[in-house]
Amino acid sequence: MVKNRYYSAGLSSGVLVNMTNLRLPGLIDPHVHLREPGATHKEDFESGTKAALAGGFTIVLAMPNTSPPLIDDESLSLAETAAAQKAVCDYGIHLGASPQNIETAAQLAPRSSGLKLYLDATFGPLHLTDLHIIREHFGRWPHQRPILCHAEDRTLAAILMVAYLEKRSVHICHVSRRAEIEIIRDAKMRGLDVTCEVGPHHLFLTTDDIPRLGAGRSEVRPRLATPDDAAALWANMDVVDCIATDHAPHTLAEKDSDKPPPGFPGLETSLPLMLTAVHEGRIELDDLIKKMSDNPRRIFALPEQPDTWVDVDVDAGWRVPEKQVSRCGWTPFAGMPVRGQVQRVTLRNQVVYENGLFFATPGSGRNIAPVYQERGS
Ligand code: DOR
Ligand code: ZN
Ligand code: ZN
Repeated sequence: MVKNRYYSAGLSSGVLVNMTNLRLPGLIDPHVHLREPGATHKEDFESGTKAALAGGFTIVLAMPNTSPPLIDDESLSLAETAAAQKAVCDYGIHLGASPQNIETAAQLAPRSSGLKLYLDATFGPLHLTDLHIIREHFGRWPHQRPILCHAEDRTLAAILMVAYLEKRSVHICHVSRRAEIEIIRDAKMRGLDVTCEVGPHHLFLTTDDIPRLGAGRSEVRPRLATPDDAAALWANMDVVDCIATDHAPHTLAEKDSDKPPPGFPGLETSLPLMLTAVHEGRIELDDLIKKMSDNPRRIFALPEQPDTWVDVDVDAGWRVPEKQVSRCGWTPFAGMPVRGQVQRVTLRNQVVYENGLFFATPGSGRNIAPVYQERGS
């Protein structure tokens, strides 16, 4: 590990704090499922944003596949109200695209952090299959706001064509396969306005881990891919814009049931896993900061967070515990040896997390949506 670096808030430049302490900018996770409204037994805005702070994140962007899904004023208001009362880190809320909400979604854009299109079947009711409706969303959603797509395999190729024809940017969620990262690489080379994210679970777990984890606990969408797919993600790290957790908490009882829902928690393990990769020489620390802070801030047009930083002991070696801050109470990475531990998180000059303890008042997290920024709330 290169130690002679210090990252002051928001800056990718460095000096030494002491032998093993690094000060990083607040990390940004553009892809989390906080389960509110509708499934607070799995997670809510308080438990989820606490898990975020414990993992070094100071902004999280919440996904709309809740119950009800966030597709109109009424449902979005439910999430906004819960978050305003409970969040302990800053947050944005993505709207979901449905066949009926093309106009409504565009009107609600200033209250959201992006429009999410579910183009393959996954957890929850949001699934768009009609190509005409997909194009209408691309045409109607404001061009300066991001569109995010769950688009695997051939669906990915289709959505790249739609983005090209509609002359707008698109952000591809949780890329997991060789063919996907390669087509994104080639699309970028041809000048398409495409960005993408990869989840640590697709970098650190593969189909080889399924027997050890068991069938239910390895269910995730996109599914765990082959070691060759994971190798392709590592080999094309220069194509990857963001590391996003896709924190998707489900309880252990649900994971071990007859119908295990797909998804892994990830907020607390993402940074330690990625710092372990830095130790192993698989990624540069500067690059990691870009993918976990600078790039998501730019892609999602997020505000700077003044006087906000994360203190990390980069050399601390530990094993991921079974118990997590996340209400789901488990992790597929339990027992894994990692190096690098979040010690303290400072948000707007307040220590909000230190060595397992939380000092933030529920509701102190701010909504980063443009309309809330303007109001200064
Ligand atoms: O594994 C997944 N879980 N993939 C998704 O796309 C959704 C997520 C969830 O909400 O649980
Ligand atoms: Zn997804
Ligand atoms: Zn997701």
